[in-house]
Amino acid sequence: MDAPGAQALILAAGKGTRIKSALPKALQPVLGLPLLEHVLRAVSGCAPASVTVVVGHGADAVEAAFVGRGLRFVRQDPPLGTGHAVMTARGSLAEASGAPLLVANGDQPLLRAQTLRSLLEHHRSSGAAATLLTAVLEEPGPYGRVLRKPDGFLRAVVEAKDASAEVRTVREVNAGVYVFEVEPLLQALDRLRPDNAQREYYLTDVLSLLVAAGHRVGGWACDDPSQALGVNTQAELADAARRLRERKLGALLDSGVRIEDPATTHVGLDVEVESDAVLRPFTVLEGKTRVGAGASVGPYARIVDSEVGPGALVLDHCLLRECVVETGASVGPFAHIRPESRIGPRARVGNFVELKKTHLGEGSKASHLSYLGDATLGPGVNIGAGTITCNYDGVAKHETRIEAGAFVGSDATLVAPVTIGEGAYVAAGSTITEDVPPHALALGRARQVVKPGWAKTRPARRKG
Ligand code: UD1
Ligand code: MG
Repeated sequence: MDAPGAQALILAAGKGTRIKSALPKALQPVLGLPLLEHVLRAVSGCAPASVTVVVGHGADAVEAAFVGRGLRFVRQDPPLGTGHAVMTARGSLAEASGAPLLVANGDQPLLRAQTLRSLLEHHRSSGAAATLLTAVLEEPGPYGRVLRKPDGFLRAVVEAKDASAEVRTVREVNAGVYVFEVEPLLQALDRLRPDNAQREYYLTDVLSLLVAAGHRVGGWACDDPSQALGVNTQAELADAARRLRERKLGALLDSGVRIEDPATTHVGLDVEVESDAVLRPFTVLEGKTRVGAGASVGPYARIVDSEVGPGALVLDHCLLRECVVETGASVGPFAHIRPESRIGPRARVGNFVELKKTHLGEGSKASHLSYLGDATLGPGVNIGAGTITCNYDGVAKHETRIEAGAFVGSDATLVAPVTIGEGAYVAAGSTITEDVPPHALALGRARQVVKPGWAKTRPARRKG
């Protein structure tokens, strides 16, 4: 029979004073996702029986951001240290289940699920009362130092602030993730005191209390020490984002995506890109964006929560949000595609064109300088340069329908609600306020007047 699934506890109540921001530390964005989300994903990846999050600073906002995720929240107010955070959550621990408790700091966005699974595995096979994830760092800086006994088990973890100069030379550090057997943990928590430089209840002191009570505490070093990176400052936040970005780009490159300049390409963790797509320099892909095989994006394009179909082109300097660009369509340069727009197969949206809640049918074209809002265009429609849908009357939005094969001449203003019928023509420069029947020509402009010789009757114009 499988061992019972671990209970998980994530510590996220800290103020994050060193980040110097009004936004709670747990919600600070790292590559488009809240800091806590990264830890949550890693923890969820080891199939815990339950996940409890200790919140404190900005608790309402943090709970609201993660509502509906099946998490339990425990409030720690005021936060008196990582050990105190675990004490606060003791009521939510299932003591009798026999399942170990996985505790993870909520500020370590580079943690991997696989590492946590291996740590749990190692803990189970070692028979220790607790096992600490450790990392060996070139510059151990502010991290807690791991002290081992001659038999390899841990003696203690000493916080850098409390460490002697000699202890500070130790390069193996506390990577902020622990597995505990619940009963000995609860006994040690009862004896925890804030006798240290920061007057805090340190979770790290629980380890030496366990050792003093005759338990064995293991330390398992992770192979990729960057996972220990705890985010405490804006600089560390930026560093973590850079490392996650490099991880994501590395995975895309491995899967056959061409990234011309990884140094200037930003791709969010949830973005999917198929092989043989090309990401040109300064491309930013965010949210739930998907890019299909053979599509090309950029340079200087930003795409948020959108789908770019196979073989589609998103050219220089485009912004796309919550839209779909279908197979073989082309967008830009300099196009702005706003939410709920859909550009049909092989359709073309050219420079300085804005779409909002607009559907372009297959092969339709709006090549230059247009605004199309709340519009539905059938297949094979041509929109002339400078065409505008007047969708807003100051109170409500209205729809424009342009049916298959219609031809709208340059600089037309289509005052919605209005329908241009199948195969109809709208003359250049027209203001269209009434529906145009199929196959008709509509002219909505003043007739041109020509006065022969008129210019010669004028006094001569001044030169220069
Ligand atoms: C902690 C460890 C240190 C380790 C490092 C790894 C302690 C005493 N030290 O230091 O050994 O090397 O992490 O990154 O644990 N938190 C609460 N309630 C509190 C205090 C903190 O929930 O009262 C949460 C924070 O929100 C944070 C996590 O616990 O997510 C760690 O706290 P932090 O203050 O960042 O500890 P470090 O100084 O980084
Ligand atoms: Mg920290």
